[in-house]
Amino acid sequence: MEQILFRHNRPGRVVTFEEYRSEGGFSALKKGLTTMSPDGVQQTVIDSGMRGRGGAGFPTGKKWSFVPRNLPGPRWLICNCDEMEPGTYKDRILLESNPYSLVEGIILACYAIGVRHAFIFIRRGYEQAAANLKNAVAEAHGAGFLGENIFGSGFSCDVDIHLSAGRYICGEETALMNSLEGRRANPRAKPPFPAIKGLWGGPTVVNNVESLANVPYIIAHGAEWFKGTAATAEASGMKLFCVSGHVANPGCFELPLGTRLGEIIYGPCGGMRHGSSFKACLPGGASTPYLTAEQLDVAMDFDPVAKEGSRLGTGGIVVFDQHTCMVGATLNLVRFYARESCGWCTPCREGLPYVVHLLEKIEAGQGREEHIQILKEHVQRLNYAFCALAPGAMGPVDGLLRHFEDEVREHITKSRCPFGGS
Ligand SMILES: Cc1cc2nc3c(=O)[nH]c(=O)nc-3n(C[C@H](O)[C@H](O)[C@H](O)COP(=O)(O)O)c2cc1C
Ligand code: SF4
Repeated sequence: MEQILFRHNRPGRVVTFEEYRSEGGFSALKKGLTTMSPDGVQQTVIDSGMRGRGGAGFPTGKKWSFVPRNLPGPRWLICNCDEMEPGTYKDRILLESNPYSLVEGIILACYAIGVRHAFIFIRRGYEQAAANLKNAVAEAHGAGFLGENIFGSGFSCDVDIHLSAGRYICGEETALMNSLEGRRANPRAKPPFPAIKGLWGGPTVVNNVESLANVPYIIAHGAEWFKGTAATAEASGMKLFCVSGHVANPGCFELPLGTRLGEIIYGPCGGMRHGSSFKACLPGGASTPYLTAEQLDVAMDFDPVAKEGSRLGTGGIVVFDQHTCMVGATLNLVRFYARESCGWCTPCREGLPYVVHLLEKIEAGQGREEHIQILKEHVQRLNYAFCALAPGAMGPVDGLLRHFEDEVREHITKSRCPFGGS
């Protein structure tokens, strides 16, 4: 199968600048800047139908088109490489093997939007990825792909790498901008949306690493080619699926968007480990509701997964076998979110620790029947928190109550965890 983002990969090491260029790297940049207008680059990305790979799945080209052309003053592009969602590690894997597609994609995006200066906001612990990016940016500068008057096009562009402050909320795009400005990393009210008023009050686009890294290939080969790499007519492009948990062969695989969940688990992942059976998975990172064994046929694309009551999210698939206590697994996840709540709004700051408290009671065999109803009410109520962290935190709780209510109740009626946990 043809790879897009992984096509330049070398076993066990990062591809070099020379290797990347000898395999066609930076030719899309030249094509874009010398033969296409900024609107032409933007339109090609719109036509490709690519949806953002950072979690929400918003169409990338459409997001760019929201930046007004006529506003005076600087505008900004931020590449979001915070990647703190448990179960998600695809951006790290990509950047540890090839930082160049991202750098090339960022310059093309800047050209399309009219941005002079971009930032890569990267998780502090991603030392190897950050070092690779630092080299790639320096090499691109040295070759004249960054800096003044690139390819004599009159377009100039620079990229800075910024290490994240190291909290999950810093990945939320408006909290990220506050963090980049040196402020407390809490989300901002929307509207105004970042495309109108973002970083330092200027129009700003925030895109995920994987979204931007795909742009050179869309420009090089065209919108129709990109669409055609997906598994279904409705999907567009390939996707990095990073799989962890109880599979025989966990890892990050680039597969056509729309590949069936079961094909991923029983294909490149080698099935369940130690001959165990599939019980459930988080399909797109820790903030997505569980899918069950009855849903293994779902096409792993945004709309089909949403129809199954979950989200494609980041494509970080976490798999659980039949020995997993789903109450314990959910408790583990919500503990993370309660700790990472930025504390800005009351429903999340007070609500998540309370949800942790209830799940702890149930897991310890001290739960009561009414706790199930209280948890269900919290799934609804936390939708009204200030940002998407709290509804995301309740994603696994929602899945727990829809698919495994009997298992929750068994903890209560037996006054113990039926899986031997506590
Ligand atoms: C709490 C929280 C954390 C997030 N963390 C990330 C992240 O680490 N990386 C990312 O790309 N998007 C993250 N997002 C989504 C971003 O706000 C934003 O939608 C995304 O960067 C847009 O990129 P895309 O349009 O290319 O998908 C997060 C959202 C929330 C609510
Ligand atoms: S929902 Fe949570 S993370 Fe988001 S603003 Fe409120 S307290 Fe902060």
